[in-house]
Amino acid sequence: MDKIQINGGCRLAGEVAVSGAKNAALPILVSSLLTEGACIYHNVPRLRDIESIKDLLSYLCADIETWDDTVRIAADGLCKTEAPYDLVRKMRASILVLGPLLARYKKARVSLPGGCAIGARPINLHLKGLAAMGARISLEHGYVEAEAEELTGDDICLDMPTVTGTENLMMAATLAKGTTILRNAAREPEIFALADALNQMGARIEGAGTSVLTIHGVEELHPAEITIMPDRIEAGTFMVAAAMTGGDIRLTRCEPAHLRSVISKLELTGARVETGVESIRVTGPERIASADIKTAPYPGFPTDMQAQFMVMMSVASGLSVITETIFENRFIHVSELRRLGANIRISGNSAIIQGAPSLSGAPVMATDLRASASLILGGLVAKGATIVDRVYHLDRGYDGIEKKFRKLGADIQRITR
Ligand code: EPZ
Repeated sequence: MDKIQINGGCRLAGEVAVSGAKNAALPILVSSLLTEGACIYHNVPRLRDIESIKDLLSYLCADIETWDDTVRIAADGLCKTEAPYDLVRKMRASILVLGPLLARYKKARVSLPGGCAIGARPINLHLKGLAAMGARISLEHGYVEAEAEELTGDDICLDMPTVTGTENLMMAATLAKGTTILRNAAREPEIFALADALNQMGARIEGAGTSVLTIHGVEELHPAEITIMPDRIEAGTFMVAAAMTGGDIRLTRCEPAHLRSVISKLELTGARVETGVESIRVTGPERIASADIKTAPYPGFPTDMQAQFMVMMSVASGLSVITETIFENRFIHVSELRRLGANIRISGNSAIIQGAPSLSGAPVMATDLRASASLILGGLVAKGATIVDRVYHLDRGYDGIEKKFRKLGADIQRITR
């Protein structure tokens, strides 16, 4: 099990290119199930989660080739419509095959993803929407069993703007008979990217990026060649690193428009942010000022940036309050940050952080993807050595993060045992 060691105190400076977005690539690669023929995807990040979804698509007999950051997927000869537990448990986003399998093959058997460290993460809204489109759904032996003579469009109002729920239903609706309206849909940039990819495949989706999606069903889709959008959470993570270390980092191949809420919060802490067409430059202040955040669905402050912001507040001057409104258990990183000397008190779904002049290096353990990123950031500013264990969590969502930080001047290395 790999570890990452960081010796803190380096000011980060230089330029780093942002990789393709994990949470856009996952649904877009799965959308290849909706058509005969080969789809080509560029700027696909090299991540464990991407390998997991490729393993699942291969299990379904899709033909997959990968070279550099390009992936070719042909789902012509699909031989199965089942996603087994031992594959789904590795990555809950595997549930995204449910909608496409139902739409194309009118049946699917997908293992329930189960919970994860940050919360129960039910899929009831996915299932409710598919049932509204005419699918017969039952839960048996830990699996979702779904089938339909035909999917038909419906006017569906989601109880909450679920990201993968919106994606599952949008993909299913592309081949449904008639028109589907998804109200209270998620508005994340990854939703827009998926809708754009599906429209390039011949789908007829309107309203992407707004909370009302209209999908006019079509007879069939055709293959397309898609470039994956940049990863806004990876970008945000490096922006926080620049601010926390009093550094000066220029991010390239990123999309500033996706990061408005993060930029405005960073500016509140005293960081200077300059944006270009596909670049963001962040210059950190002498000392970070405290700022409160409350996570919310896009375009609010992203829950996937909450842990990274928390570690920054732990070295800010003053008191800050971070409120998590999306997941019920997304403060697991607090106990590990306390091992680095952070002064954090939890009250319900809020964390109160009293900034300290510095942190002190210690051995810590990653518990989930974004928590592991916050521990790396803590190590960058902590006095002495920090060793982060279980970095497989990190490898799920960050493409070579220690190499990128080393290039920016961090004293960081991976310990492979
Ligand atoms: C997506 O997860 C992302 N994952 C998450 O990123 C991200 O944190 C999350 O959206 C919120 O932005 C991918 O896109 C692969 P939700 P998702 O459905 O779709 C409740 C990362 O770090 N809910 O929007 O699973 C749910 O419990 C990951 O890259 C239901 O109650 O999140 C949660 O409280 C972590 N019933 C809230 O909605 C449902 O049927 C938001 O969940 C679905 C969701």
